[in-house]
Amino acid sequence: MSELNNLALQIISNGKGILAADESTGTMTKRLENVGVESSVKSRLSFRETLFTASNMSNCIGGVILFDETINQEVNKKKIPEIISDQGTYPGIKVDTGAKMLAGSKNEKITEGLDGLRERLKVYNNLGAKFTKWRGVYFISKEYPSKLAVYSNAHALARYAALVQEANMVPIVEPEVLMDGNHSAKECYDKTSVVIKKCFDELILNKVDLTGIILKPNMILAGSNSKEKISGEEVAKLTVECLKNSVPQDVPGVAFLSGGQSEIEATENLNLINKNNTTNFIMTYSYGRALQQSALKHWSMNIKDIKGTQKIFNHRAEMCSLASQGKWSIELENK
Ligand code: G3H
Repeated sequence: MSELNNLALQIISNGKGILAADESTGTMTKRLENVGVESSVKSRLSFRETLFTASNMSNCIGGVILFDETINQEVNKKKIPEIISDQGTYPGIKVDTGAKMLAGSKNEKITEGLDGLRERLKVYNNLGAKFTKWRGVYFISKEYPSKLAVYSNAHALARYAALVQEANMVPIVEPEVLMDGNHSAKECYDKTSVVIKKCFDELILNKVDLTGIILKPNMILAGSNSKEKISGEEVAKLTVECLKNSVPQDVPGVAFLSGGQSEIEATENLNLINKNNTTNFIMTYSYGRALQQSALKHWSMNIKDIKGTQKIFNHRAEMCSLASQGKWSIELENK
């Protein structure tokens, strides 16, 4: 077993998943303003530190994805990566610099951040990062994602992953096919399959060790504006089938993004995926909103109630952990 394979497995095994706390300052500002909290360096740190010191971090969270601002912060002279490591959790870092308009396509995006990445990785590794994240984003419409967007993002994801492994860290490879739109689940299935297959073509071309990556895909869902309503069982069946047909066997695991699903929806779907998992891949979570939403809401109204906020986060983390083992139920959720 290679060192990177071992590390990837430690992040996502034994009922553990990933807390995606890597919202850029712009996104985090929107999230905080939505709940009536002013976004500042201090408020962003305060909410995030509340999560990082919650008790279920140790049992349920194998890795935390940080944003550049947070990995450089400290509380009472203790660096954030150290606070996370003390929980027995691995600190990780988002290293892309965001999705920009793709020249050659009218409305699609290409994720940037490759220039100077080798040097930035060294800095992050010295700050304690053990894994990284890069997100490519794709829209579904009649003509999208275009061949150009599929190829360009796969190429960038693969060059990123090769550089990350060269720096001895585990790359999370995140090709996110967005839920926005009125497409059917079948269209999501077909287009996600094309996107993932192209990513692996490029990863292989770039000589990335597939045993030392974590794939972070979307689940197969009907578009958020679609009239089609499919059951959780159907989501699970389509998602497992899509990954079975498009992900090489060497990959140790998959950590889904929540992508705008509600907390319960993302938990229930993950649970059903694990109940129907006919692959050898570990199937777990790398959730942002679906781990933080309720905790953020409570915290915004009771900023001093650290224990109450942590209780809500602990419950969410526990429910996701159960779902990653196919052991979640609505009764446990409401207990
Ligand atoms: O890149 C996306 C985030 O890491 C996951 O966020 O679970 O809210 O979609 P989400």
